[in-house]
Amino acid sequence: MEKVLTKNFDVPNSHTISVYEQSGGYTALKKAFSMKPADVTAEVKNSGLRGRGGAGFPAGMKWGFIPQNSGKPIYLCVNADESEPGTFKDRHVLEKDPHRLIEGIIIASYAINSHRSYIYMRGEFDLPRRRIEQALQEAYSKGYLGKNILGSGFDLDLHLHRGGGAYICGEETALLNSLEGNRGYPRIKPPFPAVEGLFGSPTVVNNVETIAAVPYIIEKGAETYKKWGQKKHGHETFFCEWSCCEAGCI
Ligand SMILES: Cc1cc2nc3c(=O)[nH]c(=O)nc-3n(C[C@H](O)[C@H](O)[C@H](O)COP(=O)(O)O)c2cc1C
Repeated sequence: MEKVLTKNFDVPNSHTISVYEQSGGYTALKKAFSMKPADVTAEVKNSGLRGRGGAGFPAGMKWGFIPQNSGKPIYLCVNADESEPGTFKDRHVLEKDPHRLIEGIIIASYAINSHRSYIYMRGEFDLPRRRIEQALQEAYSKGYLGKNILGSGFDLDLHLHRGGGAYICGEETALLNSLEGNRGYPRIKPPFPAVEGLFGSPTVVNNVETIAAVPYIIEKGAETYKKWGQKKHGHETFFCEWSCCEAGCI
């Protein structure tokens, strides 16, 4: 099976934009811009990509729930809270391949028509924060973020927001409350975030690993992505495994 999420993990300086571009990074974005936003969503839907934040909800279907005629802004919030004890999968993406996540965010934002997207990051994360901050600077300076990205006419601002380190803020509606500057209590659903999310506007919340899979799906196509993995849960996913040696106990 071709590696997707871990492809660059062992490459020196994998977190830099030059290494990401050398490995074919940001070509999926160019392809996405040649497609209609609805076709990008359809491709992700067809890939069978399921959310990696826990519930396994189909990502493309979630994007498709966003009403495009509400007259309100649309937001994408990427859940990088990762506070589940023993879980450290998203941290690796943030540290070792931040541009894969950023490229996925730009493609997803284009698909749902979000011009302001957020990464909500666990407060205790330090190296991931530094890596994302550097990657954001690089992406802005190369024209992958900001106004008229790559001449496509599409604008996107991407903000990093650091949480206070509360486990509950990983729950999507608590995350939205926290992002708005309120106490991170979960909201009663419905209304679901797709209809009334961040600042009362249509919002998609997706996990880091979910979004990091998107560039590959757009570049290689849904059929290629679907070739591996389980029938109802395509391609690769991370498992977090601790051994005694890693914990330093022998
Ligand atoms: C108490 C609680 C904590 C959660 N923590 C996280 C988290 O740290 N990261 C995450 O992506 N999803 C977390 N979730 C799931 C989110 O509410 C949400 O379903 C997910 O971010 C959606 O992304 P996905 O569709 O890509 O999986 C948590 C849910 C609950 C109930």
